[in-house]
Amino acid sequence: MGVLSAWWKILRSVGNARRTSHQADQLFRFYLIRAPDELGVCRYLQQPRTYGEILAEFDLTDSIYTREVLDRLAAERRNVIVSSDGHYHLNPKVPLPKLDELMASTPKHIQPYVMLAEGLKDSIADRLRGERVGVTELFERGEVSLSDRFNTLLGTGIYSAVRAAVFAALPRSDLQWLRGKQLLEVGCGSGLETAEIWLLFHGDIHITAIDRVPRMVELASANFEPTLDRLDPDHPPVTRHNRPHFEQGNILALGYPDGTFDAVFSQFMLHWTSDPARAIRESVRVVRPGGLVLGAQSTKPIVNPYLDLVIRSQRDSHGFFWGEEYRRWYRDAGVTVRPVTPAGIIGARKPGAEGNSHD
Ligand SMILES: C[S@@+](CC[C@H](N)C(=O)[O-])C[C@H]1O[C@@H](n2cnc3c(N)ncnc32)[C@H](O)[C@@H]1O
Repeated sequence: MGVLSAWWKILRSVGNARRTSHQADQLFRFYLIRAPDELGVCRYLQQPRTYGEILAEFDLTDSIYTREVLDRLAAERRNVIVSSDGHYHLNPKVPLPKLDELMASTPKHIQPYVMLAEGLKDSIADRLRGERVGVTELFERGEVSLSDRFNTLLGTGIYSAVRAAVFAALPRSDLQWLRGKQLLEVGCGSGLETAEIWLLFHGDIHITAIDRVPRMVELASANFEPTLDRLDPDHPPVTRHNRPHFEQGNILALGYPDGTFDAVFSQFMLHWTSDPARAIRESVRVVRPGGLVLGAQSTKPIVNPYLDLVIRSQRDSHGFFWGEEYRRWYRDAGVTVRPVTPAGIIGARKPGAEGNSHD
């Protein structure tokens, strides 16, 4: 029943998942073409050029990344770049995509992804040149920072629906068990997540919400009460005891002793880290034996390959990984997870003192 209700929550928000995913693909593809195009690469490829010529002309670095961008664009069904005989050239039969045309055919709930892709466009060009920025710098630079863009993006229903699905997939007994417990929320983003989890437990939960990016933590804390008021004007009072504790923190090196928390929650953040296996180990370490490990993480092959390249443009991101790796890394950390839905929803007990296992 839990899994069905998780599916239902996701489908209700996302609609036709294949269509949604195709349209999001097209937006990220646009920026993956736009970044080299702005450097002049597309014009240069009006003549066939070797890979070496392209690197030399634009001061690009011979990296897996540069190759992958060119080869991805060349491997598509409607390929803007043709690769043959060791040369790349622009395909005269496939026009470069235009953002206004794409937006006109993109449903409203997907359009905010443009803000994310637009914010990351410069780092694609940086990465092609071998100059990679780190996640904090990336999130905080620019006139409209990526943190502020994310603030809007995370407000679109998809993240909320997946979050609701994570808790819907849990047995009722686990939801009851979580009341009054200590929950670590890793990669809290701009705080909608914290407010939604808090409301789900009517304020009867102690949340420590962390994010690597200081501006995100600032936003999350400042947004907390206004978000509660917006989502539920009759919400329980926020007190010194039940207000979440917001702090800056990196999942790769959590500053808490083993077993500090009753549960850990993370959603759509592992691919942003440089070492998801270590992130998983570290997040499991701080949960006490018998505690709950909760979250959502899309994995390959379902995940959008263009989004992957866009996210990997910055230094700290491993990018998306395979479902098999997701399960194995948890298994290596001592927890058996069985991800459900394309969002990769998990809810599992860390073996130990408290029984109540899902198995
Ligand atoms: C896609 S957002 C997801 C936010 C939130 N979990 C949600 O689903 O609404 C990913 C978040 O992870 C944070 N993040 C990235 N790397 C991190 C790390 N190493 N440790 C903690 N947070 C990190 C980012 O700053 C960002 O706020």
